[in-house]
Amino acid sequence: MYKIPASTLFIGQNLVFVPECHSTNTLLLEMLPRPSEGTIVVTSNQTAGRGQRGNTWVVEPGKNLTFSLLLKPTFLKPIDQFFLTILCSLAVAETLTELEPKGNFSIKWPNDILADNKKICGMLIENSINQSSIQQSIAGIGLNINQQQFSVDTATSLKLVSGKEHDLNSILNLLLENLEKRYLQLRNEKHKELKAEYLKRMFGKDEMKNFLVEENKVKGIIRDVDDSGRLMVEIDGAVKSFNNKEISFIL
Ligand code: BTN
Repeated sequence: MYKIPASTLFIGQNLVFVPECHSTNTLLLEMLPRPSEGTIVVTSNQTAGRGQRGNTWVVEPGKNLTFSLLLKPTFLKPIDQFFLTILCSLAVAETLTELEPKGNFSIKWPNDILADNKKICGMLIENSINQSSIQQSIAGIGLNINQQQFSVDTATSLKLVSGKEHDLNSILNLLLENLEKRYLQLRNEKHKELKAEYLKRMFGKDEMKNFLVEENKVKGIIRDVDDSGRLMVEIDGAVKSFNNKEISFIL
């Protein structure tokens, strides 16, 4: 069903397809240390898909892209690990834009991809770090492609955006090319460029939005992301930084 991309150097060149598994992130983790950098594990159905903040990730079997990518960014310092989030988010957002140029795709910090105001993709990036470097990173990506019904009305898919059915394999190949392009950019230390492009695609940047902070509803304006990936929000004229657990959007 899935074919190895012809046009990448290493990302996706070792492609492991399993029709069903618990979670591709967990399966790839269980396969370590054998798989080489760039290995991807793809499935048609996860029985225990994992999301951020301990949530589950549940989608209809066979309709979406569900895979995990193994990177070994030993050149990256632990303090720079947010760049892995930046590269994956950018790769997904630009893949969707290439497929649907009229679509309005943005990155909702830290790494949800939105189509208009609805979530089209979620990521779970799990890093294994020692004192001086990142030993490996498992980037799990769930991208909604042909599913048309969701249990929440805050979710959407490429088919709902474009009105067309899409070929999962072609989209996977394009996404792997974009992931590799961005990863090579990171390896070449193009941190400034990557961050600038991330900020350009960021949902709500420089706009007044509603947030939840310590269970209080507050109004604020996203101004930046600091080097460790904290969201910098201007609230009542002062800029404060937040980690993922400290702030959430009210869409
Ligand atoms: C989120 O938005 O909460 C993150 C969802 C991440 C889902 C993907 S699907 C492939 C990979 N395997 C998992 O168990 N989770 C990620």
